[in-house]
Amino acid sequence: MSVLVTGGAGYIGSHMVLALTDRGEDVVVLDNLSTGFSWAVAPQAEMVVGDVGEQTLVERLIRERGVNAIVHFAGSIVVPESIADPLGYYLNNTVKSRALIAAAVNGGVEHFIFSSTAAVYGMPEVNPVDEEAPFDPISPYGSSKMMTEIMLRDTAAAHDLRYAALRYFNVAGADPKRRSGQSTPRATHLIKVAAQAALGDRSHLDIYGTDYPTPDGTCIRDYIHVTDLIAAHVLALDHLRGGGDSLVANCGYGDGFSVKEVVAAVKAASGVDFEVRIAERRAGDPAALIAGAEQIREKLGWTPEHASLDEIVTSALAWEEHLRSSDRVA
Ligand code: UFG
Repeated sequence: MSVLVTGGAGYIGSHMVLALTDRGEDVVVLDNLSTGFSWAVAPQAEMVVGDVGEQTLVERLIRERGVNAIVHFAGSIVVPESIADPLGYYLNNTVKSRALIAAAVNGGVEHFIFSSTAAVYGMPEVNPVDEEAPFDPISPYGSSKMMTEIMLRDTAAAHDLRYAALRYFNVAGADPKRRSGQSTPRATHLIKVAAQAALGDRSHLDIYGTDYPTPDGTCIRDYIHVTDLIAAHVLALDHLRGGGDSLVANCGYGDGFSVKEVVAAVKAASGVDFEVRIAERRAGDPAALIAGAEQIREKLGWTPEHASLDEIVTSALAWEEHLRSSDRVA
């Protein structure tokens, strides 16, 4: 029996593949390599280059490889890009997920783990925001992920499939063994951009808005180390395999840091005082998003081991340096 990991050549997916192969599981990766890298896939895993929207391909993989669980990371992830290209996001994140879920049902796959997002909450009225808060996305990205959660909920009610929808807050950091990390050259995420600025790959970092209703005027986010996030996925898989109910859970620490605090942490960890410019607000940014993170601890027994902003930024910087010292894309 094997686990199908979609988007397994991407940033977060590749860490899941490492975690699964580290514990001896058979893994099939399906990735179209639009943003991922085949070198990021653990050598013990089978790599299939293809699209999750190709339902017949997925059905064949399920049949031939004996897939009994799917972990679905493949998708588009940049909030402002989704505002400029909503239909592209609904295609990649919603329509193709529908094909994947249909293949899972047709192939009798019983366990499904989905990369959802805090963006399904939009601008929550209270922070920390817990899973009881209503869906209220403010970007096509958030809406595209919300729709997939709804498809999973309704499919699980009608068919023999149980799922975990894990709502990620802001994921950063890299594998402590330096086997994978955030490797997209033109990544837009704050900690990656700051690490690139610290290493001289960017002339400066723009802070998008200093007039938010937060203590220092910049947006607050809950940053989670990718290793802790993946530990939650492994626990969710074991939970479903052990007969546990479907679940929806926030993945964050319950602590918020402002953009200015993150920039200060990267400057301190790198020892580089890179240039920072104040820029206009970016479309689609809520002022604050902090996880109400009780469920995941209670239902899955999750205990984070890397819950420190310094550790996250140090790990991101180390990966950024590793990319430069290897012949990998930086
Ligand atoms: N930011 C800057 N300058 C940069 C990059 C980011 O000021 O160069 C700011 C953003 O405006 C935002 C914060 O840093 O206030 C974090 O931005 P990111 O792009 O790193 O992350 P997002 O919060 O936009 O997105 C992340 C995940 C999504 C998730 C979302 C929830 O990528 O999957 O958090 O808001 F849905």
